[in-house]
Amino acid sequence: MSLQPTPADHFTFGLWTVGWQARDPFGDATRPPLDPVESVHRLAELGAYGVTFHDDDLIPFGADESDREKHITRFRQALEETGLAVPMMTTNLFTHPVFKDGGFTSNDRSVRRFALRKVMRNLDLAAELGAHTYVFWGGREGSETDAAKDVRAALDRYREGLDTLAQYVVDRGYGIRFALEPKPNEPRGDILLPTIGHALAFISSLEHHEMVGLNPEVGHEQMAGMNFVHGVAQALWHGKLFHIDLNGQRGVKYDQDLVFGHGDLVSAFFLVDLLENGAPGGGPAYDGPRHFDYKPLRTEDIDGVWASAAANMRTYLLLKERAAAFRADPAVQEALATSRVTELAQPTLAAGETAADLLADRSAFEDFDPEVPGAQGYGFVALDQLAIEHLLGAR
Ligand code: GCO
Ligand code: MN
Ligand code: MN
Repeated sequence: MSLQPTPADHFTFGLWTVGWQARDPFGDATRPPLDPVESVHRLAELGAYGVTFHDDDLIPFGADESDREKHITRFRQALEETGLAVPMMTTNLFTHPVFKDGGFTSNDRSVRRFALRKVMRNLDLAAELGAHTYVFWGGREGSETDAAKDVRAALDRYREGLDTLAQYVVDRGYGIRFALEPKPNEPRGDILLPTIGHALAFISSLEHHEMVGLNPEVGHEQMAGMNFVHGVAQALWHGKLFHIDLNGQRGVKYDQDLVFGHGDLVSAFFLVDLLENGAPGGGPAYDGPRHFDYKPLRTEDIDGVWASAAANMRTYLLLKERAAAFRADPAVQEALATSRVTELAQPTLAAGETAADLLADRSAFEDFDPEVPGAQGYGFVALDQLAIEHLLGAR
């Protein structure tokens, strides 16, 4: 397996990731602005498949029509020169002070109307550039005090906004799907739709629920203390893993946006194993872009930025190679059988068996001795150790 990324690996990067100037709440930028055209060329050289962006990453907020066209034209030219795709786009509804109380859920109705128009304009561009997925990260949709937000009304407005935009996409025949990105907090004290679970429940209430799924991010679930692999598995189970944001996070703290694998490495291993080998019977469980949403450390210069971009892809490929070795190891297959991991795929009732049949089966209850399975070992530690040894390259 090659560790040199190619477009066939479907690695994508947000313009805002490599382009982050490393301004934080305590300090100024440590790097000069990066021209999106330069990013497109460098990412293509590194073996990426595509780029993604917020409207304002390419076209400064408030730019007039002719400036907007100029930015789009030279960007489009860079895409043509490099062959990079734009599989996903999104809207900045968080930087300008107008959005300080949110976009779709601002208490100020005029802000909500402006937010919808800003998205509609960028959806037109997304369709032109061939994007299939449009991400909604509601970073400012939330509050710092419960006195200030009627959460049920806010969810009504969130739904109204997404229903309106979905209808717009349907009417225009854009063929774009929406992906909601949960996050528990930051920049708001508390953000609406804080986890995968909250977002899944909300999606089921939408008018066009079939065209709305998720863009879960590693670090965001881990900020909430959640198991990201379980969250992604549930999103897949619901048919809602439309996109994914890969990065690294170490525990429950601020959003670190580290390089993929530079946080919880064991979780990253099992995540790659799920994405690449998790289909029933083996093979990839997810076929969308492997999208990196990370921030090059503030300590890095521009060379460090490109080194960190390469590190994301190389780490992913290393984990993919390690996960393949894990799956192919006969000792692992034996351990999986000993641990009865595969037995879980077997339905609990036999084909055609009813509750009445189960009631009549004395072996299931009357003659069942719970002491026997109560005393059996599952061998999960031995299985986990095999995973760790493959991860460490010891097998
Ligand atoms: C964050 C988010 C964002 C979004 C981006 C795309 O925590 O800053 O992850 O980076 O992914 O706005 O919608
Ligand atoms: Mn993040
Ligand atoms: Mn993200």
